[in-house]
Amino acid sequence: MTGVRGKHTGMWPNRREALWLTAASVLFGGLDLLVHGMSPPTTGWTGPHAALLLHLSVDVSLLFLARFPVQVASWALAVAVLMLVSEEFAPGLFTPVQPAAHTALPFATPAITTNLVRLTDRRRAFLLIGLLAVLGTRPWHPSWDITPLGVVNTVLPALAALYLHARRELLNSLRERAERAEREQLLLAEHARAQERRRLAEEMHDVVTHHLTLMVLHAGALGTGSADPTVRTAAEDIRQTGTRALTELRDLVGVLRNAGETRTAQPSEPTAPDPRTLVDEARAVGETISYVVDGDPGQVSPTVRRTAHRVVQESLTNGRKHAPGAEVTVALSYRPDGVTVRVANGAADRPADGALAGSGSGVGLLGLAHRVELIGGTLRSGPRPGGGYQVDAILPAHVPTREDAG
Ligand SMILES: Nc1ncnc2c1ncn2[C@@H]1O[C@H](COP(=O)(O)OP(=O)(O)OP(=O)(O)O)[C@@H](O)[C@H]1O
Ligand SMILES: [Mg+2]
Repeated sequence: MTGVRGKHTGMWPNRREALWLTAASVLFGGLDLLVHGMSPPTTGWTGPHAALLLHLSVDVSLLFLARFPVQVASWALAVAVLMLVSEEFAPGLFTPVQPAAHTALPFATPAITTNLVRLTDRRRAFLLIGLLAVLGTRPWHPSWDITPLGVVNTVLPALAALYLHARRELLNSLRERAERAEREQLLLAEHARAQERRRLAEEMHDVVTHHLTLMVLHAGALGTGSADPTVRTAAEDIRQTGTRALTELRDLVGVLRNAGETRTAQPSEPTAPDPRTLVDEARAVGETISYVVDGDPGQVSPTVRRTAHRVVQESLTNGRKHAPGAEVTVALSYRPDGVTVRVANGAADRPADGALAGSGSGVGLLGLAHRVELIGGTLRSGPRPGGGYQVDAILPAHVPTREDAG
């Protein structure tokens, strides 16, 4: 802990300091006038008021203490030296001859020593206080009249100021630490909220989009298959409402995703859904899907199975939206060292529904890749050479932990 001196722009750093120093200056000035009024005058060539003027100059210099602490202390030191020299070699010059002065220091010295500790660096403060203490106590000529008063004027106020300063710094650092801890707590809570928002956004994208697109397709099939104009109108209404819901969902998901930060791996869930249900649902709306499963899903962790399910889900939704009528192949291979997922579709047999294809935010595959990477897998997707689209995911059997990585 070292004394820190702030950069002062004016004579005083603040109003409080100005008031305090002015009050000290007036108080010590008054005390000097009183004491000198009761003491005999000086008798040297410097005139009868030499001692009073010297002391008053130190009192006035207190006004500059905040701005020039070292200079003010040096001036008090110089006055003390003049008093000593006068007493030893030229009695009556700066100190009255009779009675001999009871103080070897200006009265304002305690105000200077207390503030030195606070206003300047420790090395200079201790040096100046030490010199004042030597002059004030006169150890080469100790006396009960002078030495104790010298200690009371210099060392004691400095020690008290040091103690108060250290105590204030300790309290400040404790307060700062408590505030920092509180801020960190808030940040952590905000981070957790952001992660949860993002998780919900992705969940919403994957699950709700899947069901809504199915609903839109059902409605489309119903409209085209029915001869009844009322049914056709109702089906078209459902289709349009579903498409609108998809568009609004896209905006909402975008907001939620952007509000969050990077997501982290979710804790494994005890059960994982079976991709077969997705295939069954797609077949129910007339999609042609071949589904091949190889190996035992029980060999991989539920989190991995859940991710595989998401890959199939998003790929089927994409096929429905961007390549309607295309044949789709879903192939899953579970092995002890991991899972491979392939969802491939051929070329569309009719143009994509513009509203449906444009309802997405274009980040479904990106979010999926992110999710796959989080569990240590890889995802590749893109058009196939002969037409159509293909998504390939390679997933580990278990989500790697920190220990695995180390
Ligand atoms: N099966 C597919 N057939 C043809 N094109 C596809 C297929 N899957 C994806 N695409 C193309 O890749 C793009 C990116 O797909 P992605 O799933 O990221 O976005 P989206 O489906 O448009 O919107 P979102 O998934 O966010 O609702 C699509 O816009 C589409 O052009
Ligand atoms: Mg998509």
